[in-house]
Amino acid sequence: MSKPKVLITRPDIPENGIKKIKEHCDVEIYPEEKPIPKEELIKLISGKNGLFCVLTDPIDKEVIDAAGSSLKVIATMSVGYEHIDLNYCKAKNIKVSNCPDVSSDSVAEWTVTLMLCAGRNFMEAATAIKKGKWIHAWSPMWLCGAGLADATVGIMGMGRIGQNVMKKILPFQVKEVLYYDIFHPIKPAEEMGAKFVEFEELCKKSDYIVSMCNLTDETKNLFCTKVFDLMKPTAVFINTSRGGVVNQKDLYEALKKKTIHAAAIDVTVPEPLPKDHELLTLPNLIVTPHVASAEINVRIKMADLAAENILLGVQDKDLKTPVPMPK
Ligand SMILES: NC(=O)c1ccc[n+]([C@@H]2O[C@H](COP(=O)([O-])OP(=O)(O)OC[C@H]3O[C@@H](n4cnc5c(N)ncnc54)[C@H](O)[C@@H]3O)[C@@H](O)[C@H]2O)c1
Repeated sequence: MSKPKVLITRPDIPENGIKKIKEHCDVEIYPEEKPIPKEELIKLISGKNGLFCVLTDPIDKEVIDAAGSSLKVIATMSVGYEHIDLNYCKAKNIKVSNCPDVSSDSVAEWTVTLMLCAGRNFMEAATAIKKGKWIHAWSPMWLCGAGLADATVGIMGMGRIGQNVMKKILPFQVKEVLYYDIFHPIKPAEEMGAKFVEFEELCKKSDYIVSMCNLTDETKNLFCTKVFDLMKPTAVFINTSRGGVVNQKDLYEALKKKTIHAAAIDVTVPEPLPKDHELLTLPNLIVTPHVASAEINVRIKMADLAAENILLGVQDKDLKTPVPMPK
């Protein structure tokens, strides 16, 4: 009997994941270490039973149609799955999986790092010396920010990573953690002491506002001028979820006009962000290039999990980490 056919959209996937799939399937790998161009994807996916993709591969109707009726499973090596047309997958009976949990510690650590760095003006401080701005030995108010001790932290989207962020900031002796989520109460968060509040109240009361929700039609451009205007002038805004939840023009204005104190974001629109982008001119904004989960061990676990899902999917078995399908 012929083996199932699987397409992997990049060659730079941790080896063990690829090896697992190769043991049971005929594997074709797009050979370049960059996002596969759509026309190549359309060409290579034809007749495949499984697709191993990453978040830079838009899997839309055209791609799914190009696969033909053989396609059984799409496994994305990412937590987010907004690049996949789930409605169409459902209509075509194609299973979809993502990689939840395995990167939560890593993303939460990066989120806390960004909180501390933005709140305490870390980047400005570190570059001030190189730019010759360290003129007086010590100044009472120079580069002063506010840390986590005694801060009110508001988490928008108290899912797996939101809860992990909360767990990691509690030892910093924060004053309280507020959260907003479409699902509530969220028991594990409330057991740690988090308090549910409406989104507006969260924005008004928090010293740190952390965006940890999924990108959906409801959360797209959610953080806009109207929302930044609710925040304290000392507020620090963090986004490690998806760039699309922020209206970047409005974030730029809020930081430029000091409507809020500072921000740090790991995700942008577009990605990569052009190096002459106006956001990169702001001293009170830290931007990192979508690397919150960039730990070797994490990426190995993600590839292993995506590979397991591919193997289950091509055998018509239930996936280990299926993406919730639209109702
Ligand atoms: N920067 C990175 O490298 C990186 C890495 C991993 C995950 N992420 C992003 O982080 C996000 C969170 O990951 P997770 O594993 O915690 O996901 P999750 O699904 O466990 O949590 C997301 C939470 O957002 C909530 N939510 C969704 N829509 C909402 C709305 N309209 N209002 C309020 N809450 C809403 C959900 O109910 C859920 O509790 C993902 O969307 C993912 O894209 C980013």
